[in-house]
Amino acid sequence: MKRPSASDVLVIGSGIAGLATALKAAEHGLSVTVLAKCGVEETNTSRAQGGIASVLDAEDSFISHIHDTLTAGAGLCRTEVVEAVVQEGPERIADLVRWGVRFTRVGKGRRSPYDLTREGGHSARRILHSSDLTGAEIQRALTARLKASRGVKLLEWRQAVDLIAPRGQVLGAYVLDTAAGAVETHLAKATVLATGGWSKVYLYTTNPDVATGDGLAMAWRAGAEVANLEFCQFHPTCLYHHDAPRFLISEAVRGEGGILRDRRGKAFMARFHPLKELAPRDVVARAIDSVLKSSGDDCVFLDVTHLPAAFVRRRFPHIHATCMRYGVDMTRRPIPVVPAAHYQCGGVRVDLHARTSLGRLYAVGEVACTGLHGANRLASNSLLEALVFARRAEESLRSGLAPLPKWFRPRRWDPGRAVESDEGVVVTQNWDEVRRLMWNYVGIVRTDKRLKRALDRIRMLRHEIREYYWDFHLTGDLLELRNLALVAELIVRCARARRESRGLHFNIDCPALQARPVDTVLRPPKDPKARRA
Ligand code: FAD
Ligand code: SIN
Repeated sequence: MKRPSASDVLVIGSGIAGLATALKAAEHGLSVTVLAKCGVEETNTSRAQGGIASVLDAEDSFISHIHDTLTAGAGLCRTEVVEAVVQEGPERIADLVRWGVRFTRVGKGRRSPYDLTREGGHSARRILHSSDLTGAEIQRALTARLKASRGVKLLEWRQAVDLIAPRGQVLGAYVLDTAAGAVETHLAKATVLATGGWSKVYLYTTNPDVATGDGLAMAWRAGAEVANLEFCQFHPTCLYHHDAPRFLISEAVRGEGGILRDRRGKAFMARFHPLKELAPRDVVARAIDSVLKSSGDDCVFLDVTHLPAAFVRRRFPHIHATCMRYGVDMTRRPIPVVPAAHYQCGGVRVDLHARTSLGRLYAVGEVACTGLHGANRLASNSLLEALVFARRAEESLRSGLAPLPKWFRPRRWDPGRAVESDEGVVVTQNWDEVRRLMWNYVGIVRTDKRLKRALDRIRMLRHEIREYYWDFHLTGDLLELRNLALVAELIVRCARARRESRGLHFNIDCPALQARPVDTVLRPPKDPKARRA
C-alpha cells in the first residue's frame, strides 16, 4: 500500500475557487495539494464568457450592486453575504490583476480603465471581461501562477471518491488515480471542496463533463448539511444546432442590444417583463420555454443583425467564430437558441467564513451555498463569489489549523461489498435515464406529479446503481453516476419541500409566494451506513 500523502490543505478542484484558495494559502506559507479530476483547465471556469461583476465605475455604487443581487435572489439572499461579496469585490479583482489576469481595457480619459459591459438584472455597466473568453483568461493566469508557486502540488487526473470523515471531522480524501486505477489516501489538516456544480444532471447543459456534483455527494455522505438545491439556473440562450453541444451565447450579447424573436421574427420579451431581454435570467428562460411550448417550435432566435457587423465580430470573436463553424453568421441572421442547465445556486451549506457543518471542511465556489444567490443568481456574480469566499476560507482554515488528532489512524479505502460490475452499457443507460428524467420532470417548469414520479424513479435507479457500484475495477464513470443519482434525488427532495414558486423554482401546483421564505435545508442521516446507501 502506498503511504498516505499529507499536506496542510487539500483543495479538491482546479477552477477559480480551488486555485484562488490554493494561491492564498501558498502566499501564507501553507503546503497545499490541489486535485483536478481531469486536466487542470477542464473546468466551468474556463468556459465563462460574460465576465465578472464588480463596482469599478465612479457612477456605479455598492448599493446598486447589492440591490440588483437581492432583487434577482427573490427574497432568499443572506443580506450580510451579499454586502460582503459586493464590498470585497474590487479588492478581489485587484488580486486577479496581480495574479496576471488581463481584462479588456478602454482608452484613456474614461471613468474606469476597464471596458465594463452589462448583463441581465444589472442596473449599471459593471461586468469586467476579457473579450468573450473571460473564464479561459482567468484559468490561464491562475494556473500559471499556481504552477510557479512554492509549496503547491498539483495532481491532475485524480478523482476524489470520498472524504475521510471520522467523528465529524474531515481529515482528507480517498482519491482515484484514474490512470493507474488505484485509490490513494490524501490526508490534510483542512480540506476545501471546490468541485464546482452538477448541471450534468440535466440532459442539456452548458457545463463540461466534470460537473457531476461529486463534491456535493461526498459532503452528503460525510454528513454535511446541504441547502436550496431546487434552485437550478437554466441559461436562456444556448446555440441550437443538432451537431453542437449546448454552446453558450453569452448574456452580454443581449447586454449589447441583442433581441429575442420567435420563428416569425416577432420580439416577445416585452410581453413578459419591462426589462425585456435584460430581465433576470429565470424570467427570460421561462419566457422562452413558454413561447416554445405554445408554438411547438424547436428554438427561438437571438438577433444582433441590427448592430454593426464589425462591432459584433470584435466584441464577440469566440461566439462569432463558433457560430460560423455551425453555419450561422450572426452578423447576417439571428442565432437559433434554446435554454440549457447552467448553474446551481444551492449546495453545501457554509457560513460567512466558508465553514461547512463538519469540522475542518470548507466549501468554496459553485459547490457551496453561501446565501449570495438566494433563489436566483445574478449574472456574473459567481466568479466574484468564488474569489471572495476563497479568501475567507483560507483565512478561516489558517486561523484554525491544527495537527491531525492523535486518536486518528488512517485506514485504506474500503471497497465495501464488492460484486461483479454490470456491463458498461447498463452504466451508460443509467446515466442517460437520470439526465433525461431530470430534464423532463425537474426542469424549468415543475409540477407535483412530475416531481413525485421523478423521485420514485430516481430511488429505483439508485437501488440498481448500489448493486454494482462496489466494483474492484473502479471507473470514473461509475463514481460519477453514483454521485449524479444521489444529487438528483437531493434536488427533487428540495423541490418537493418548497411549497411555493420563487426565483428559479417554478411549480405550477404552488404558484403563490409564501410570506416568510426560508432556505430548504437537508440534513444527512446520523448513521454513516445510511448515508452511504
Ligand atoms: P469549476 O470551475 O467548475 O471547477 C471544478 C473543479 O473541480 C474542476 O477542476 C474539476 O476537475 C474538479 N472536480 C470535480 N469533481 C472532482 C473530484 N471528484 N475529484 C477531483 N476534482 C474534482 N459565471 C460568472 O460569474 N460569469 C460568467 O461569465 C460565467 N459564464 C459561464 C459560462 C459557462 C458556459 C458556464 C458553464 C458557466 C459560467 N459561469 C459564469 C459560472 C461559473 O463559470 C462557475 O460557477 C464557476 O466557474 C465555478 O467555479 P468553481 O471553481 O466553483 O468550479
Ligand atoms: C453569460 O456570459 O451569459 C454567462 C454569465 C453567467 O453565467 O454569469
